[in-house]
Amino acid sequence: MCSIIGYFGKENAAPIIVKGLKRMEYRGYDSVGVATESDHQIKLRKGIGKVNEVNSKIQLDILPGKVGIGHTRWATHGKVTDVNAHPHSSNSGRIAIVHNGIIENFEELKKQLKNEGYDFKSDTDSEIIANLIQKYYEKTQDIKETILKTVAKIKGHYAFVAMFENGQLAAARFHEPLIIGVGQNEFFLSSDVLGFIEYTDNVIYMENGNFVILDRDKFQIMGFDGKQAKYEIVKVSKEFCDAYKGDYAHFTLKEIYEQHETVLKAGERTLEAIEKTVQCIKQAKNIYITGSGTSYNAVLVAKQMLSRYTRIKAEPIIASEIQFIPHSIEENSIMIAISQSGESADVLEVVKIAKLAKCKTIAIVNLLTSSLARESDIVIGMNCGPEIGVAATKSFTTQLVIIYKIIQKLSDNIVDIDFAKISKLISEILKNPTKIQRIANEIKDISDIYILGRGMHYPIAIEAALKLKELTYIHAEGIPGGELKHGPLALMDSNVFVIIINPNDSTYSDMLTSAREIKVRGAKIIGISDIESDIYDFWVELPKSDEIAYPISEIIPIQLLAYYAALAKNTDPDYPRNLAKSVTVK
Ligand code: F6R
Repeated sequence: MCSIIGYFGKENAAPIIVKGLKRMEYRGYDSVGVATESDHQIKLRKGIGKVNEVNSKIQLDILPGKVGIGHTRWATHGKVTDVNAHPHSSNSGRIAIVHNGIIENFEELKKQLKNEGYDFKSDTDSEIIANLIQKYYEKTQDIKETILKTVAKIKGHYAFVAMFENGQLAAARFHEPLIIGVGQNEFFLSSDVLGFIEYTDNVIYMENGNFVILDRDKFQIMGFDGKQAKYEIVKVSKEFCDAYKGDYAHFTLKEIYEQHETVLKAGERTLEAIEKTVQCIKQAKNIYITGSGTSYNAVLVAKQMLSRYTRIKAEPIIASEIQFIPHSIEENSIMIAISQSGESADVLEVVKIAKLAKCKTIAIVNLLTSSLARESDIVIGMNCGPEIGVAATKSFTTQLVIIYKIIQKLSDNIVDIDFAKISKLISEILKNPTKIQRIANEIKDISDIYILGRGMHYPIAIEAALKLKELTYIHAEGIPGGELKHGPLALMDSNVFVIIINPNDSTYSDMLTSAREIKVRGAKIIGISDIESDIYDFWVELPKSDEIAYPISEIIPIQLLAYYAALAKNTDPDYPRNLAKSVTVK
């Protein structure tokens, strides 16, 4: 939920760190800071705002020194303030740290440290790491002993990098990502390869419960038991370097417009894994599918599609709910986990539980280097390239295509899906956004919007509501069309907008009836359909398509609507307030 980075090498650290933080801003962007070591002194600058804003105010990138650490924050403990921003220095100022994750026992540790005379400036849980390190380093003068004692004390999920006044760096990983980039006489530590990919593609994915000490031209990786740990240097794909907006004003827009290509590339490099998944599904006692947020909405589509086209029953599990539904996972079943980042803590928790229940675990995941990919038995790579905009767009349609590919194979190609045609439909929708821009202006000042869908369009209605909430901050709710009369009709009046997802399939006439019921109550109707109707105040034309393709094509105009409404409201579509792209806390 935050990003951490460290640099140790031959170049000035600060500009490299600032660039890396900018790339990882998707992980959190409420405040930012950098600390460097120069002449055995630690210099530190930090402030609230995004990387470029803060950098232009207080020039993070001119800090001197060849060693440094940096951080972008997504607040969990303590408000968004300059003081709560990272790095945090220890009381002596001789140690600075950056931290991602949560220290569960920080209150107890803070109390103990206060009793020993330590002061705390911030409200964060992270500051205790800096002071614990100071305490143990003053006692032992040994970095290895210091880190071992520190990790033995703290409980929770974390990755941190500590910088010592003598220019050494140490970093530890426990259930939060930490990657070492191994360059020519330089090392990087980072939450994501994006933090350093333009400098080196040689990386070490640190194992959970390991720490590293960097010193001049060497590094040492050890376990929390103090023993040398095994590691492997692997090459990562440079395609993740391709995280630029190009000619687009925002990543979100670029990613929406990439979808005609990403639906063609979906799962392309892991067809064998799709085949294996199909075999597992055929033999499974129970099939569970899990995810969070948008990926959970893809789970809901998967459930409906599997049942409709293959008569296979699958049970959806909202990842964050798993702890409240004990005994929900029967032994020897299969668990399919869908996640763009592969780092959502809730999803990883479900996979852990599934493994304990001896289930086969299958990941549909974009980041093949993620924890989810590494922990699953079968990995289907989404292959949609980096998704930087915090709101998921192309990853959602990619997930749907992979689900379709599984269904197609399960049915021995009886369910015939023309992916090239789906790609063309998307291009057609994206060709002319003028009408959607106009509607975006109409909705920008409203406070409530409802999205109605029936059957397989209901999960799309929920996904549409999520996009509108995230990007426009308008209250949005997805409702199954038939449920209108059971309550939501009471909300309909002339202040309300309702989006009707109404393609020409078996749900069409029932949805039109719902639209009529809404219309007579004065609400404004945006119809998303391939058939025009005078019931709609605004008609967004969907190109005609096969029934199975509608869920993919109908979400595209709503993604665009959310994007343009965000622009009309002057909010930042790439970085919606209070959110982060990779939710690594539970
Ligand atoms: C919505 C969004 C989030 C994510 C959710 C799961 O636009 O981005 O709801 O879908 O946090 O993330 P992943 O798929 O990375 O597990």
